[in-house]
Amino acid sequence: MTIPTSIVIFGASGDLSHRKLIPALYNLYKKKRMPEPFRVFGTAGRSWTDEDLRVVAREQLEKLPNASFDPELWRDFASRLTYQPGNVSIPDTFHQINAGLSALENGPANRLYYLATPPEYFLEIINGLAFSGMLEENGGWRRVVIEKPFGSDLQSAISLNQSIHAVLNENQVYRIDHYLGKETVQNILVARFANTIFEPVWNRNYIDNVQITVAETVGVGTRARYYDKAGIIRDMFQNHLIQLLTLVAMEPTSSYNADALRDEKIKVIRAIRPIAASDAKTNSVVGQYRGYLQEANVSEGSRTPTYAMVRFFIDNWRWQGVPFYLRSGKKLEDKVSEIIIQFKKPPHMIFSVSEDLEGSSNLLAMCLQPDEGIHVRFETKVPDTVAQTRSVNMKYHYSDVFDQKDIPEAYERLLLDVLTGDASLFTRADQTELSWALFDPIIAGWEDPIAPAPEPYEPGSWGPASSLRFLKAEGYQWVNICGENCVEPDEAQPDGD
Ligand code: BG6
Repeated sequence: MTIPTSIVIFGASGDLSHRKLIPALYNLYKKKRMPEPFRVFGTAGRSWTDEDLRVVAREQLEKLPNASFDPELWRDFASRLTYQPGNVSIPDTFHQINAGLSALENGPANRLYYLATPPEYFLEIINGLAFSGMLEENGGWRRVVIEKPFGSDLQSAISLNQSIHAVLNENQVYRIDHYLGKETVQNILVARFANTIFEPVWNRNYIDNVQITVAETVGVGTRARYYDKAGIIRDMFQNHLIQLLTLVAMEPTSSYNADALRDEKIKVIRAIRPIAASDAKTNSVVGQYRGYLQEANVSEGSRTPTYAMVRFFIDNWRWQGVPFYLRSGKKLEDKVSEIIIQFKKPPHMIFSVSEDLEGSSNLLAMCLQPDEGIHVRFETKVPDTVAQTRSVNMKYHYSDVFDQKDIPEAYERLLLDVLTGDASLFTRADQTELSWALFDPIIAGWEDPIAPAPEPYEPGSWGPASSLRFLKAEGYQWVNICGENCVEPDEAQPDGD
């Protein structure tokens, strides 16, 4: 007999819960992927009723694109949504939640506890669950999902992990990095390891450099209370960008298994050449968009970077000498996440080409969002010329083959994986620590009071001029292939005669 599953959301009245989690659960339910029977039990400080939770959840669902709201289905789904108010800072709250939940479950049940709260409550909740016996697996599993940030530096990450491990086994902990839930991010491994054409050239012999861009057009919005303390390196690099780098650089595993995959990623991070605080300036650039200081809740004279670029080298046989350029920023020209693999130029060019740096390099662009797909750029002969070449793109777009509405939201896949106990797309404790160890010195280098302030850049630009100069000095330029505003090769000038 299957026992019921309860999804318990702490912070159920918040944004994450109604914008991401409940819609993801609803979609899974719609696709008949939820374990039956299940219930969603929300709790938070607000004195809401079941009905309040349902009203807010319904409003969000109705806003979903592609008309996925189905009133009939909703009625049944809504009957599974319940809410119980509770202040997690009061220990008795957990006994009350347990009593309320147990009454509904009426016997053994699996429980997924989702901590959709600000990070300062993580330990309070995990300890509250432990002390009230809510983590004991008598008859059903207990899994805990936590959202980033997992600490704010190496020390705090170690102490968070230690406290978590005092009451939970690592295999009960699911640290979400929503980038890993994105279809196109998962497709990096499929492109690499389900094909044979890429892998033979996926190394230092053929690849010249790798560029990873995660650019946003939005600013800090209403999140400055958190962001002004975090800054772009903690917010984006320590988690999302390093995850992308590991997927590009890791070795194939012998099976698709959580620990095998995570072990290979860890090996990549271990092989990244550390950048000392004193070398931060020669290996990275930070910037701040003009107008950031006027945003609500930004501290006066704040030196928090909203843009950064970092150059890494990976000291192993596959990648020795290949620079990996990572950049991310807010208020940039385009909302685009892409990985550019720039191949080496031909060893000897028999055609005359221009000095254009991009010129005759082949590029593979993995477009993660919004233009989901893969582009390959190569040279071709212009008809009716002696030997004039020009670059062309061969493109595969998800939307050419699949219906855009079949691309699920990251949280859908991730929640399903927690329910089925597959931790492949979640960050293991050791990875969070290694990643902090890599970025702590870079952050320290820039936070040093004698370090220069982040370079200002214009909103709507591609970030500080130093970032462009940095690549230029190394003989490169940032390449944009995937975004809406980038130049197609046919709009560019042909390369020479
Ligand atoms: C979050 C960061 O993790 O990722 C935000 O905290 C950022 O600052 C967001 O805006 C970007 O996610 P996405 O999915 O829009 O690329």
